[in-house]
Amino acid sequence: MVAIEDIGFSVKAGEFVALVGPSGCGKSTLLNVTAGLMPPTSGDILIDGVVVEDRRPYFGYMFQSDLLMPWADIRKNVALGLEILGTPRREARDRAMEILREFELDQFADKYPIQLSGGMRQRVAFMRTLLCNRSVLLLDEPFGALDALTRSVMQEWLLGVWERTRPTIILITHDVEEAIFLADRVLMMTARPGRIRKEVSVNLGRPRDHSVLTTPEFNIIKEEILEELFREVARSRNNDE
Ligand SMILES: Nc1ncnc2c1ncn2[C@@H]1O[C@H](COP(=O)(O)OP(=O)(O)OP(=O)(O)O)[C@@H](O)[C@H]1O
Ligand SMILES: [Mg+2]
Repeated sequence: MVAIEDIGFSVKAGEFVALVGPSGCGKSTLLNVTAGLMPPTSGDILIDGVVVEDRRPYFGYMFQSDLLMPWADIRKNVALGLEILGTPRREARDRAMEILREFELDQFADKYPIQLSGGMRQRVAFMRTLLCNRSVLLLDEPFGALDALTRSVMQEWLLGVWERTRPTIILITHDVEEAIFLADRVLMMTARPGRIRKEVSVNLGRPRDHSVLTTPEFNIIKEEILEELFREVARSRNNDE
């Protein structure tokens, strides 16, 4: 199975890039290859222009599924990433409590993942990724399981974090509005094998809040992206016939 092919793009330090494309086009595969969890059949991933063999230290990665450890309570789950990186256990758990408070989930610190809703688990996984403080965050549908309201709150929260600490972010989303609201640039992928079909710059001011969603400028970008998405779906249907 060829998941991605002839794919090339670069991301600037501190840039926020969103990746959209049809289901199964290779988005998660692309992040796995980027993070070094999967070797590419051909091609290279460069950091600051250099091929780096062990790229894991550069990337915080929030997977499409939350991957919480069922036997550990929420505080330990959030602290886990830091602990694996060598932060002493007590300090890791203190910092986990701090971020849990910030996300208003501290009253669940001693609960287990099975006792949380899907949206809460996703927030916990997101906190764990953030806490590791990496220069590049790979986020695979981080808000996919959230209801619309929580999702909006989390999006604004993520923008706040990004503006304060300026990590480089590559975010996969199926939600065109989310992509535009958050990103500096939206990369659109073709159906499998995934390639970058089109790149749309989001020239909306910063800092942004949800009032931007109803502006004419926002809608023009949205129309451009939706048109291209529908064109891509039609194209891949024709190819299948
Ligand atoms: N470990 C694997 N072994 C074989 N094929 C795989 C593997 N992982 C993914 N694939 C295939 O590669 C293709 C791309 O999968 P990928 O998970 O990257 O898609 P995606 O764009 O993230 O989809 P979605 O939007 O549904 O999450 C799919 O056809 C999938 O079946
Ligand atoms: Mg995926």
